Amino acid sequence: MKGVVLAGGLGTRLYPLTRVTNKHLLPVFDKPMIYYPIQTLVEAGITDIMVVTGGNHAGEFLKLLGNGKEFGLRHINYTYQEGEGGIAQALSLAEFFVAGESVCVILGDNIMEDSIRPSIEAFRKQGQGARILLKEVSDPERFGVAILEGPRVVRIEEKPQYPQSKFAVTGIYFYDPNVFDIVRALKPSGRGELEITDVNNAYIDRGVMSYDVVAGWWTDAGTFESLHRANDLVAQKRTVGAPV
Ligand code: DAU
Repeated sequence: MKGVVLAGGLGTRLYPLTRVTNKHLLPVFDKPMIYYPIQTLVEAGITDIMVVTGGNHAGEFLKLLGNGKEFGLRHINYTYQEGEGGIAQALSLAEFFVAGESVCVILGDNIMEDSIRPSIEAFRKQGQGARILLKEVSDPERFGVAILEGPRVVRIEEKPQYPQSKFAVTGIYFYDPNVFDIVRALKPSGRGELEITDVNNAYIDRGVMSYDVVAGWWTDAGTFESLHRANDLVAQKRTVGAPV
């Protein structure tokens, strides 16, 4: 399975912090933000990784990460997203790299406590379709929100004003190779982006979407509040001595 870390976009919600650097290079406790999603993939045994970056500071990723020696990797692949066409558009840039395999996609501002290894195993057994990770949150309106009927996700709504559940769709997604055909068929949303929620709803419509609920903590880090929270959570984890 290939791993793709999406670290494009302009991070405007964090201005002025992101005026002269990329959001994913900002510190979260003692490491740059991008370290955490990469570590999540590597810890789970995914070592064939592409980082999709963009904006004016893409070269800094290469300086920071190099070939991934710090993560025990021999090589990291990079590609460049022009503009901010959305998460699904950023993913489409990795098609050549993924080359017909299945893929674990992780958003560059998502940080989580648990290993994703059990979900990888479950997705391998599932054999096709897609799998998402959900987390119950107090502010679902900030996220993609999953509407559940028993063991099935029946719909995902992107940042709904009136969320129909408390289950946020986290930025960790498992897809079979059909994902790139699905992205090709997408139309830009009202905000002019190719939305990952539309990709996930396409899998739901095909009846091949599964999910796991994350037990440990999970956070994004794309707003001042969530960046602060991410720092706190990582710092707390460090003080009990466990590696993040
Ligand atoms: O964090 C989980 C949430 O992430 C999901 O619940 C939502 O369904 C999903 O749409 C997304 O919401 P955000 O509004 O938080 O996404 P944001 O625009 O902040 O982008 C998240 C990451 O995706 C960002 O850190 C880098 C990557 N990205 C984003 C865009 C818009 C790209 O690589 N390219 C892009 O064009």
